[in-house]
Formats: sequence, structure tokens, C-alpha cells
Amino acid sequence: MSRTSQAIIKHTGAIPQKDSSAKYQTMKAIRIHNYGGPEVLQYEEAPRPKVAAATEVLIRVHAAGVNPIDWKVREGYMKDFWPHEFPLILGWDLSGVVEKIGTGVSHFKKGDEVYSVPDASRDGAYAEYIVVRESELALKPKSLHHVRAAAVPLAAVTAWQALFDAGQLKRGQRVLIHGGSGGVGHVAVQLAKWKGAHVLATASTKNQELLRELGVDEPIDYTKQKFEDVARDVDLVLDLIGGETQERSWSVLKKGGSLLSLVQPPSVEKAKALGVRAAFVAGHPSGAQLAEIAKIIDSGQLAPVIDRILPLSEVRRAHELSQSGHTHGKIVLRISNGNGTIQS
Ligand SMILES: NC(=O)c1ccc[n+]([C@@H]2O[C@H](COP(=O)([O-])OP(=O)(O)OC[C@H]3O[C@@H](n4cnc5c(N)ncnc54)[C@H](OP(=O)(O)O)[C@@H]3O)[C@@H](O)[C@H]2O)c1
Repeated sequence: MSRTSQAIIKHTGAIPQKDSSAKYQTMKAIRIHNYGGPEVLQYEEAPRPKVAAATEVLIRVHAAGVNPIDWKVREGYMKDFWPHEFPLILGWDLSGVVEKIGTGVSHFKKGDEVYSVPDASRDGAYAEYIVVRESELALKPKSLHHVRAAAVPLAAVTAWQALFDAGQLKRGQRVLIHGGSGGVGHVAVQLAKWKGAHVLATASTKNQELLRELGVDEPIDYTKQKFEDVARDVDLVLDLIGGETQERSWSVLKKGGSLLSLVQPPSVEKAKALGVRAAFVAGHPSGAQLAEIAKIIDSGQLAPVIDRILPLSEVRRAHELSQSGHTHGKIVLRISNGNGTIQS
């Protein structure tokens, strides 16, 4: 581990040596033992998880995507929704290699290169190993190495479910994506273009070029103009920001349009009064959707944008950056370098 990383992460307790006889199997992981700020993230030894059910798969994690949900759980904001137990491993976005399969697993085998959004009510992927359900897995896109593949699953599955399942977005429709340069937003923009929609998206001045590169038809700089002054007759607003951005979004919708938020529930009463639809969308794991998304990536129509790649030991920095709310694309933690040694 580098000197900088040592300053950032404090090991807790004595670190047992790995036993090559595999009787005593541990792994490096980032765990929290209580809710709090980035300082509660501890880089330490943890028990290596085991396949416990027939449909479970043990994955050697190569890289883990960082998402706002990670620091929201760390802060305790989600404790009523997911009653996690401590110590808890964070991180629900990963790419890696199948190490072991349960007796009922039929679609994957040892050595498969996979990516996944695991169940966020269980331990996450800031670790050398994770156990996930077969239904949460897909083969990773062949055209992406693990670090880039780990940037995709949570953002892409969420964008897919919001745009296509809840939003029923169709070719030729107009969609406004708030936060089009962020983790979910930059994937949502590309998926909406892939579907043939006309895409409007908001971001600040520094991200206008990125919006254009992603294919946005009408980029809007929210620091220079009010989006409601330029956006009109929108079929679907995808709200990745909340607050007053959501409140000001009603006026851009056409009759029968939809306001979908991934951040906070919009007012159903207001929607009714205006003759539009409104809903909060909560993403859920789907290996089947990840398999579809991998095909789109391998066809060259979707590519993740990486803000930065950090070693697992710099997870506190990763959380501080994510919590700033102004990174572009994704932050990824590199965990294994593929030859069995952890990156620190
Ligand atoms: N419900 C679910 O299942 C679900 C799933 C995934 C994510 N989420 C939530 O969705 C939200 C977005 O997630 P994310 O991963 O995309 O976050 P993110 O990567 O942190 O989003 C950052 C982006 O937001 C942009 N932004 C900040 N303020 C803005 C504003 N006022 N108007 C327009 N853009 C603005 C920033 O652009 P500038 O730097 O240019 O300002 C930045 O590129 C988070 O709250 C997350 O928790 C929910």
C-alpha cells in the first residue's frame, strides 16, 4: 500500500496471515462497524463469504463501482429501508470472475467473467470476494475490461428500469434527463438515444461538452439558463436531482407525460391535477437486463465514462468525491489486478 493510502485508511486490529491450506479463509474488504462519515470506512480482513444456497455464486471481485447509495447507506440514511447488520461491506456494483457455483446454478461456470448489481440488503462488493444470486448476474460485455465493466451495472439497470419499464419510452419521444453527466445520467442519455428518443439533458458548464459527446440533442447548462425556459412538450422527465429541480419540472411536461424520480417521490396529487403521471422508481437487480445491456455495449452503442479509478484502499476519497455530487460518469475501485494480488 502506498504512503498516501496508509494515511487515508487505518487498518483495524491485528491482520491475520492468509493460510494457504484454506482452513482459515479471509479476504481484504472495506467494512463499516457503525454509521457515520467517510472515517467509518475500514480497510481490514474479513471472513471470505461462502456459497450457502444452491442458486448462489462466489465471485472474485476485480473492480467495484461507487454509487451515491454507498455513502447514503454509510451515513445511515437508508437504515429504515435496509436493516443492515454490522460489520457491513458496502458497494453494490461489480465486475469479476466466477470462483465457485452452487449446486443449482445452471447458466454460469467457474472462470466466467461476469458483472452484477447484487442485492443491496446483503454484503456488497468492496471486497476480494462476494456471493451473489445467479439471477443478479450476467456475462460482462466482452469489449470492456473489468474496471470499465464495473462502472456499468447499477447505473445501467436503474436507467433501463426508469426509461423503459416505468417510463415506457418510445422512439421519437422527448425525454429530459436531469443530471445527464452523472453516473446514472450519462448511461440514461445513451440508452435513450439507442431507443431513438430526442434527448434534452442538464449539467453545469464544465459538462456541456460531455453531454454533446454522449449524443444529447439539446444540452442545457443549468448554471446559465432555466431548463423550463427551453424545454417544452416533454414526454418523460427523468429526475436524478430532486428538490427544486423536480418541482420546476412539472411545467415542461406535455399532457399525459411522466415525471419519474430516482431521488424522491413526486407529488401524485399534483400529477393528477396536471393530467400527467408521476412516480418514484427504485431500481432492483436483474441479470436478464444486464445481459441485454452487455449486447448494446458490445455493439458499440453504449460506453461507460469513468471520472476516476482508485485503489480499494482509497475508498474514503471515492466517497468524498461521490458525495460532492459533481463527479462526471463513474468512480471505480480497482480491487484485484487479475493475477491474484489486491491493488492497494
Ligand atoms: N432509486 C434508485 O434505485 C436509484 C438508483 C441509482 C441512483 N439513484 C439516485 O439518483 C441520483 C443520481 O445518481 P448518480 O449515480 O447519477 O449520481 P452522481 O453521479 O453523483 O451525479 C452527479 C452529476 O449530477 C450533476 N448535477 C448536480 N447538480 C445538478 C443540477 N442541479 N442539475 C443538473 N445536474 C446536476 C452533476 O453535474 P455538474 O457537476 O455539471 O453539476 C454530476 O455530473 C442519486 O441521488 C442516487 O442516489 C437512485
